[in-house]
Amino acid sequence: MSHTPEFIQVRTEGRVGIVTIHRPKQLNALNDQLIDELVATLQAFDADDNIGCTIVTGNEKAFAAGADIGAMASYTFADVYKTEYITRNWDAIRGIRKPIIAAVSGFALGGGCELAMLCDFIIAADNAKFGQPEIKLGIIPGAGGTQRLPRAVGKAKAMDMVLTGRMMNAEEAERAGLVSRVVPLDKLMDEALGAALTICNYSLPSVMAAKETVNRAFEGGLSDGVMFERRLFHALFATADQKEGMAAFVEKRAPNFQHL
Ligand code: HXC
Repeated sequence: MSHTPEFIQVRTEGRVGIVTIHRPKQLNALNDQLIDELVATLQAFDADDNIGCTIVTGNEKAFAAGADIGAMASYTFADVYKTEYITRNWDAIRGIRKPIIAAVSGFALGGGCELAMLCDFIIAADNAKFGQPEIKLGIIPGAGGTQRLPRAVGKAKAMDMVLTGRMMNAEEAERAGLVSRVVPLDKLMDEALGAALTICNYSLPSVMAAKETVNRAFEGGLSDGVMFERRLFHALFATADQKEGMAAFVEKRAPNFQHL
């Protein structure tokens, strides 16, 4: 990105990119500029050979309490339709090919919950609260909430959340399959970094293929998904890292992946 972002903070730790959403007074409410900054950073990390995985996080009180309601309040149908509100910027996150972990503490509501679900998996602090409360504002989720939430937690809970606008705590979210792990708040970043560093140490082509293939399970039918998996599985035998990974196992040593 050519200029310093205003609403996010960016750092790296080894091969891990870390993006912290930073609009604390508004509970990290997401406006257009923030999403543009986030997407530009994720795309830059995706293109950077020195990065293998990214973490998106917020602060203790909020991952993000949704899209900025004040900013949206005066939008008309013509405004949002003509400018492709959401599609024009949020959807670029789906195109990121390296893994993204959401490390969520505090509120992840509306667009905040949708942003977390746009990431590849969610690690939650024990104070995390998830919800799609758009119904309370006279709208519905618009960044994939009605589609990704049922795929994560099933129809019953998704309908409950989307129709009543209630929140789900971290324990319920883990039980329902929305989050992969729940950890004490003060361990959240250690846990997310540990997972990210583990991923970064694997061969990047196999990591990217794994992400792409699991995503197929969400977006298509079983036989197409299995065939897609099979072809990428076959293709990975063409990588130097497959030779290295298997040789290392046979020789009882740690692999030295070159991401090739
Ligand atoms: C703008 C927000 C905000 C939001 C909180 N704030 N959420 N501003 N947009 N989504 C602001 C408050 O106005 C307040 O500003 C400050 O953050 C602190 O919030 P409080 O309400 O005082 O905190 P608290 O009492 O702890 O309540 C927390 C809360 C509540 C339960 C999270 O803030 C809340 O319900 N927020 C709205 C959640 C929501 O409806 N999200 C969905 C948005 S629609 P001041 O200036 O008063 O201190 C959406 C559509 C997505 O996301 C479509 C796809 C893009």
